[in-house]
Amino acid sequence: MLPDGSFAGRVSIVTGGSSGIGEGIATELARLGSDVVIVARRQEALDAAVARLAVHGTRIGTYAADVRDRDRVEEVVADVVATYGRIDHLVNSAAGNFQANPEDLSQNAWRAVVGIVLDGTWNFTQTVGQHLIQRGEGGSILNIGTTAALIGGPSTVHSTAAKAGVLAMTKSLGAAWAQHGIRVNVMTPGPTEDTGAMTFLFGEEGQWEEQVAAIPLKRMLTRQEAADASAYLLSDYAAYVTGHNLVIDGGRSLGRAGGVFSG
Ligand code: HXC
Repeated sequence: MLPDGSFAGRVSIVTGGSSGIGEGIATELARLGSDVVIVARRQEALDAAVARLAVHGTRIGTYAADVRDRDRVEEVVADVVATYGRIDHLVNSAAGNFQANPEDLSQNAWRAVVGIVLDGTWNFTQTVGQHLIQRGEGGSILNIGTTAALIGGPSTVHSTAAKAGVLAMTKSLGAAWAQHGIRVNVMTPGPTEDTGAMTFLFGEEGQWEEQVAAIPLKRMLTRQEAADASAYLLSDYAAYVTGHNLVIDGGRSLGRAGGVFSG
């Protein structure tokens, strides 16, 4: 964990911040002193998350928005700047996924997932990037990856392809925006406890055990561990790190291709 106050005076946006890894990161940033704005589709989920997040004395804001809706994204970013005065950090954690045979995916299903993961990440990243460049004080952006983008995901080709695009976007922007003092990185988690990915994707009996069996360190990642790695990449302790992909998967992706955890 980073020292208390590492994000004092900062303003952070976390998409997908009402649940899962996004909520874990939002909680950690608030604990470290940042005002945190969480974005998700359902206001009820956001309200429930605020009760859990607002215990560290920093401001917690919510915006109901679909990351695929560019106009709404621009509206949210403009309102955050107007309300909080600045944005320092963006975490793109909003995601959508389900398992399907590639040959059975409808065009709509492909578009839904690629739209959320790739377009949604781009919509927030470009809009916040424009603000950061205009303000001229730098900042840092974090995207969430998946090990499937490195080794393939036979049952989630839509999500895997989109996350691979996010990885390439990250490296491209890491180079492009370094001149503006903006760092862009990816945190790639393996199977993580208390997340939609695990309950939603692998909720059937025996699937968790199957996942753990394929992990050399023989347990899942905790949300706190994912949040700690994320906070590091966003923080000034990683001031010389950009375009990087920090894989934190207990060795899951070492020398393996395919398998059940292919999400
Ligand atoms: C097959 C499905 C499906 C399912 C949706 N579709 N769910 N097909 N199996 N389980 C199809 C629909 O039939 C439809 O195609 C198309 O996808 C769009 O579905 P909608 O429900 O209309 O879209 P939308 O409301 O935008 O929902 C987006 C979603 C949904 C991604 C499809 O599942 C969602 O909102 N999920 C959010 C929660 C989530 O996914 N959490 C896990 C993230 S894990 P047709 O042709 O019928 O119109 C993650 C980690 C990645 O991302 C890697 C680690 C594993």
